[in-house]
Amino acid sequence: MPPIVAFSTILIILVSITAKNAVANLHFREAPKFYNSVNCPAVNPPISAVHVAMTLDAAYLRGSMAAILSVLQHSSCPENIVFHFVASSAADTAVLRRLISKSFPYLQFEIYPFDASAAAGLISTSIRAALDCPLNYARNYLADLLPTSIRKIVYLDSDLVLVDDISKLAATPLPNDVVLAAPEYCNANFTSYFTPTFWSNPSLSLTFANRNPCYFNTGVMVIDLERWRFGDFTTKIVEWMELQKRMRIYELGSLPPFLLVFAGNIAPVDHRWNQHGLGGDNFRGLCRDLHPGPVSLLHWSGKGKPWARLDANRPCPLDALWAPYDLLKPPYILES
Ligand SMILES: *[C@@H]1O[C@H](CO)[C@@H](O)[C@H](O)[C@H]1NC(C)=O
Repeated sequence: MPPIVAFSTILIILVSITAKNAVANLHFREAPKFYNSVNCPAVNPPISAVHVAMTLDAAYLRGSMAAILSVLQHSSCPENIVFHFVASSAADTAVLRRLISKSFPYLQFEIYPFDASAAAGLISTSIRAALDCPLNYARNYLADLLPTSIRKIVYLDSDLVLVDDISKLAATPLPNDVVLAAPEYCNANFTSYFTPTFWSNPSLSLTFANRNPCYFNTGVMVIDLERWRFGDFTTKIVEWMELQKRMRIYELGSLPPFLLVFAGNIAPVDHRWNQHGLGGDNFRGLCRDLHPGPVSLLHWSGKGKPWARLDANRPCPLDALWAPYDLLKPPYILES
């Protein structure tokens, strides 16, 4: 091995060991047990379960913990919820399993290691380095990662909290052959999500012919995994990612391939289920306000994360709504 390669390999190993220890040393509080109300359907047969998919990694673990707590706390049948976590590597799985079990001893969950190298080769650099994290692309592969017995899932990002019952979101109708449901934003300028290279090439832009494509955020989605598998949508998304490696057809990370494959063909979800953008804008990190209308889910998409801003004593006003779900013990009370 040439010395420069050996050196960088050692560096990478050191960095990942440090990151792993950092996670293993986090002290999350134990969440209370949440009980089903009397009207809940029996968990057997498992058809009445709500399946939730999320990714788990070191950088966003605190966010994931808060999201899980918020889901359980606002559910009227919390014992009927099954979580499916995708972890960044097999090595992380044991540590993450221990941390989740410690904070949520009663949680029904499974952890699936994601072979990030499969996605890594397909990722082209985007405007924000965080978007290039391979785990961001795990949502493309849920149909392959989860067992075929799971027919339908609610996918959630890690930088959000629910303030409403997830079973209402999970019950979103997916008519006919529709694979995916999400809130749509037809006033957003759809053109701006793709480059002039894309729009000026008819063999590419014709993909949107006979569709009325609208922007949607991939942080909150209801997905019919059976239809996804049947239509092999993973391959369709990967094909666009491969094209992106050869010619730049978009600037953002994991979102545009979803728009290319699904925009205009999704089932709508009320906007209350993804009040997104609370992280602020990608360039200056300004605070953002809620969109008008009711709120069932708060999503800190964008550059800033509430835990980081709270720790830095520079919170945005709405970060106060995230704080009650934070399970991380502040270091100064660890000794007690
Ligand atoms: C939409 O975005 C495109 C590309 O960024 C821009 O050229 C166009 O003027 C925008 N349209 C509107 C209505 O803002």
